[in-house]
Amino acid sequence: MKLAPSILAADLADLKGELASIALSGADMVHFDVMDGHFVPNLTFGAPLIRAARAHCALPFDVHLMVTDPGAYLDSLAEARVAQVSFHTEAERYSPRLIRHVTELGMAAGIAVNPQTPLSAVGEVLPLASFVLVMSVDPGFAGQEFISTVWDKLDALAEWRAAEALSFSIAVDGGVTLDNLSRLAAIGVDLAVAGKAFFTAPDRSAFAQAVHRAAP
Ligand code: DX5
Ligand code: ZN
Repeated sequence: MKLAPSILAADLADLKGELASIALSGADMVHFDVMDGHFVPNLTFGAPLIRAARAHCALPFDVHLMVTDPGAYLDSLAEARVAQVSFHTEAERYSPRLIRHVTELGMAAGIAVNPQTPLSAVGEVLPLASFVLVMSVDPGFAGQEFISTVWDKLDALAEWRAAEALSFSIAVDGGVTLDNLSRLAAIGVDLAVAGKAFFTAPDRSAFAQAVHRAAP
């Protein structure tokens, strides 16, 4: 599996230092949680901070939009040379069109799904999406516990992908720890997003290696 540390759980007052630490750890991308205080009960940052971070980090940027109007953010994220963007199916009426727009802007498009949203809500867009971001906590905050009902959803999504021979990758976001890595890998999860577990790990490189080597 690949690893995207979630900057939400980093020391944001030392963004430059945290980006350097992420790169040094061997992680694969940096996950940025954009929250607007409406779609989720928290407010973080937007494209200006991501653009500033871009100057200090060569890793690909993965932006997770937890906002009510994701389309409004796309141009500025493309300008910040973001590699991939996910938006929530719960926030967008016309997901196929928005996925096409993200792709036209040169970014990989992901559809994010809240823990209580059934997979049937994203069935139509699975053939179009580069990745599915399965939320394993209610979005808004780092440091929450993995919601156990999401295991069945991950199994079903991996089965759906195989049955339909689709090529989207599966990312999991929320409550990822050393203890659930092997189960995630066994299901076929491609990318683990980790906030608290990564930034509080005594050895961040060891954490990244554990993600890379995770096996059933
Ligand atoms: C939650 C965010 C996550 C969060 C993950 O709304 O989307 O990316 O930062 O943090 P942990 O790994 O601590 O649950
Ligand atoms: Zn996230």
